[in-house]
Amino acid sequence: GPFVVAPAMNTRMWNHPATQANVKSLRERGVVIVGPDIGELAEGEFGPGRMSSPEEIVSSVHTALGRSVDKTFCDLSVVVTAGGTREPLDTVRYLGNRSTGRMGYAVAMEALYRGASVTLISANVELPVPKGVDFVPVVTAAEMATETLLRQEADVVVMAAAVADYRPSLPESSKRKKAEGTWTVELERTQDVLRELGHASSEGQVIVGFAADEGIDGLEYARQKRNEKKADLIVFNDISRSDVGFEASENELVLIGSQGETHIDKRSKEKCAVAILDAISLLLRSE
Ligand code: CTP
Repeated sequence: GPFVVAPAMNTRMWNHPATQANVKSLRERGVVIVGPDIGELAEGEFGPGRMSSPEEIVSSVHTALGRSVDKTFCDLSVVVTAGGTREPLDTVRYLGNRSTGRMGYAVAMEALYRGASVTLISANVELPVPKGVDFVPVVTAAEMATETLLRQEADVVVMAAAVADYRPSLPESSKRKKAEGTWTVELERTQDVLRELGHASSEGQVIVGFAADEGIDGLEYARQKRNEKKADLIVFNDISRSDVGFEASENELVLIGSQGETHIDKRSKEKCAVAILDAISLLLRSE
């Protein structure tokens, strides 16, 4: 992979011909050298040798990885929901869905790379918690609603989680014993978090929803959903295909905004997250 070095040392050591010769040979081998800066040093001296700022090092890493540096997100708060909620039927069984949380986690990490302060509200995801996010684990749609609405002032909210639309009306308070005949469960609607966020959103805020649906009809339905829920952007993915979306490592998306639609060809969920954040960045800059 690309190799970035951020040297920091005492001025005499930095100026020493041996160090300079070594730095030169690193450069000749394609290593990117960041800094050092000139400034106050740990020993109280002043001169070249001071470590570059973390922002500058991160920016060099991004450049080395061939990514553009996007400063739009610096100092912004971004809330991302991920995973799939579980609605209890009794104390051991639940109604759930196939979401793994990978798309949401990729969005959270991409926002983090771009300098946002990120809260990740995560429902039942078995992925490592990304370092640097404010992590909020939840289980049910009700918990998801509470934790997300608590943070509805965020600059950007991305509802990537598959939140249950229905939950059992009367979950049993102990493990249900099997009996003759059928078991009929009544389901009631849950709170639609995206709709509430969209309808309450303030000037300059960006609210993003996801729509997992099938084919051309699903895409049309997603367009309507954007209007109905007053989301700034809807990320549509076609779940009639088995090679993308649920449980797959790749996705293919249509980003539906008020100004038009962008088709994102099949690619890794991490690269999809880059495209989603690029679209959000445009919205933030146009507001
Ligand atoms: N969502 C939500 N609260 C819910 C259900 C869904 O905030 N109770 C959010 C999801 O996080 C997602 C979007 O709304 O961003 C999906 O909308 P939804 O209407 O649930 O879409 P589908 O389930 O894809 O479609 P359907 O209308 O067929 O249920």
